[in-house]
Amino acid sequence: MFDAKGFVEEKVEELRTAIPGRAIIACSGGVDSTVAADMVAKAIGDRLLTVYVDTGLMRKGENQYVDEMFRRLGINYEIVDASEEFFKALKGVSEPERKRKIIGERFIRVFERKAKEFHAEYLVQGTIAPDWIESGDHLRDTIKSHHNVGGLPEDMHLQLVEPLRDLYKDEVRKVARYLGIEVCERQPFPGPALAIRVIGEATPDAVEIVRDACAIVEEELEKASDQGKMERPWQYFAVLLPCQSVGVHGDRRAYGKTIAIRAVSSIDGMSAAYSRIPHDVLERMSTRITNEMKADVNRVVYDITHKPPATIEWE
Ligand code: XMP
Repeated sequence: MFDAKGFVEEKVEELRTAIPGRAIIACSGGVDSTVAADMVAKAIGDRLLTVYVDTGLMRKGENQYVDEMFRRLGINYEIVDASEEFFKALKGVSEPERKRKIIGERFIRVFERKAKEFHAEYLVQGTIAPDWIESGDHLRDTIKSHHNVGGLPEDMHLQLVEPLRDLYKDEVRKVARYLGIEVCERQPFPGPALAIRVIGEATPDAVEIVRDACAIVEEELEKASDQGKMERPWQYFAVLLPCQSVGVHGDRRAYGKTIAIRAVSSIDGMSAAYSRIPHDVLERMSTRITNEMKADVNRVVYDITHKPPATIEWE
């Protein structure tokens, strides 16, 4: 049985010795990086700078949410607007692995700038076991270059500290609960963010579309599970597909975009089963996506694939 209290006490003590200088952490507001930031802040206080990078790729309302959360946790943090830089780097790129690498690299560059300003010598990351197991590390073939691992350039001048490296997602959630971090009940969110939920080139417009669709999927599935219509899936989101199809808008022919809904149950993300969402909930999501969104989406499909053979994200 995993002992969250014992883990935190031991790790915080270990981190005090492991980080004699100043450190920096990228915190996306997700459970992994927030737990890592809180634990390191417990060990070294304001010698840790927590940086939230606004990549322009985050979920709806995320910047404000993160700002309020960091303030509540009482950690030393800064929010950096780097969205223009990210979209510029992603321009014209549609190959999934390339997108992941570019985003990982941009992140590190932004940190390096911040780290220099802060005179940091250590880079803390919220990497967990499935991240590095799926990124190769001599154990398995590379399925996807996970953001936390694949993006690290060779010439990085910061020493890496990964306090959650041996933990699986359910264990990180236990630690979060023990630390009283409310993010423990949030669904996982990938490092490369909405860029990998736009199949093909992640332009600002495409990201805006998938951001709105994700918000609708989240709202409706949370409402349905709160009402007891279904169990809350482990992860649930929308994907913008790179294909258009013919539809009707009023009495006119339309040629619109397609959104796929993805919802899965899982324990640790290593394998997953698609969620059996009641049809009335699916219908409500479809109607809202096609009616409410400013973008011209005229088709909504539901992904009924398990992992394996699919992965949870589409890229
Ligand atoms: P896949 O799509 O590989 O995803 O089945 C498994 C879980 O990992 C999340 N994911 C990521 N998490 N960095 C992360 O920290 C990443 O680059 C990344 N890519 C996928 C995904 O959302 C799912 O929960």
